[in-house]
Amino acid sequence: MKLKIAIVGCGKAATRHLKIYKELKDEAEVVAVSDIDPEKAQSFANELSAKPYIDYKEMLKKEDIHVVDLSLPSGLHARIGKEILENFKKDLLIEKPIALTLKDAEMLVNLAEKYNLKLVTIFQNRANLPIVKIKEILNKGLLGKIILLSTKFYWSRNQKYYDSAGWRGTWALDGGALAQQGCHFVDMLYYLGGEVESVFAKMGTYLVNIEAEDLLVGTLKFKNGALGTIEATTCARPKDLKAELVILGEKGSAIIGGFAMNKLDYLAITGIEDTISLTNGFTENPPHPLGFSHFTYLKSAIKYFKTSEKDPWLVVGKEAIPSLEVIIGLYESAESGQEIKFPFESKWCKLGRG
Ligand SMILES: NC(=O)c1ccc[n+]([C@@H]2O[C@H](COP(=O)([O-])OP(=O)(O)OC[C@H]3O[C@@H](n4cnc5c(N)ncnc54)[C@H](O)[C@@H]3O)[C@@H](O)[C@H]2O)c1
Repeated sequence: MKLKIAIVGCGKAATRHLKIYKELKDEAEVVAVSDIDPEKAQSFANELSAKPYIDYKEMLKKEDIHVVDLSLPSGLHARIGKEILENFKKDLLIEKPIALTLKDAEMLVNLAEKYNLKLVTIFQNRANLPIVKIKEILNKGLLGKIILLSTKFYWSRNQKYYDSAGWRGTWALDGGALAQQGCHFVDMLYYLGGEVESVFAKMGTYLVNIEAEDLLVGTLKFKNGALGTIEATTCARPKDLKAELVILGEKGSAIIGGFAMNKLDYLAITGIEDTISLTNGFTENPPHPLGFSHFTYLKSAIKYFKTSEKDPWLVVGKEAIPSLEVIIGLYESAESGQEIKFPFESKWCKLGRG
């Protein structure tokens, strides 16, 4: 059986999905696409031999599909996701972040549970080969007790990027470097470091004219006692500089670099001389024309929608919520000047509001 997919939102992220679905044509078929911009819908429809729609509700009324791929501006995920789950009862594949407020994220998760529908959020970096291996190494306790998880990304997004779509960099629909690009890194801190107890952050808007921040620096305390840091910025000039995740444990250390945590730069473990054979085949994502991790993640998601078999990196249902809570906590701290201890009632964070 081929999974029948409908795409809602034919923009940048969905363009990558489109290419992947073409590659996975034996497993899934995009039968319909919708975008409020008719030209985008038509161009996707031509590429995929699918039916174009301007109105996603009309599409879902007319078309017989299994899963909706939601690749809309982040601030629209909740409202349109709710409609799809509640009124059309379709499984959802939703681009990160699941939503911009905790209330909205919980609403989507609860609706999916209520109607027994599947909800997958795309955090493709969890499928990076070095991350798969480091997760296994951490699960086996080979690094001992973890004391520090430190992550940073110095990427470049200029005014032209933010001006390319009206929702970018707005509090209501996007957020800044932390919520948009940094959600991958916060997700990784949570995935590898576990639940977070408290956070503190400072932020500012330095090199572009947007509502939200283009630089945030934060510290985290994990429930297991470890400390963490994040430096999230789109201010690197003139181009993307680097991204990195450092893990220090009582028995070993690891550094994962590459553009998006896709390359193991360093691993040393007390008592294990041969870390090369330990990590053989997992030190770097292989070259892939469609992005190794995105391709792997979407393939896994298709398998999960079809068979309920879940690869370990897939973020299903409520698993997308803790990292969103950390993002909201970091913004709450930066806006209020206070350390934020979880759980908390958000008063200051502007993400998803306005
Ligand atoms: N996983 C990743 O690494 C990754 C990378 C980029 C973007 N994203 C996420 O993907 C989502 C989309 O980002 P993007 O960069 O593709 O944005 P985009 O602006 O390029 O695309 C969004 C599309 O949605 C359309 N749209 C808006 N309202 C609509 C509606 N009511 N019905 C149908 N279509 C509508 C727009 O016309 C546009 O074509 C965001 O949530 C973003 O965070 C994820």
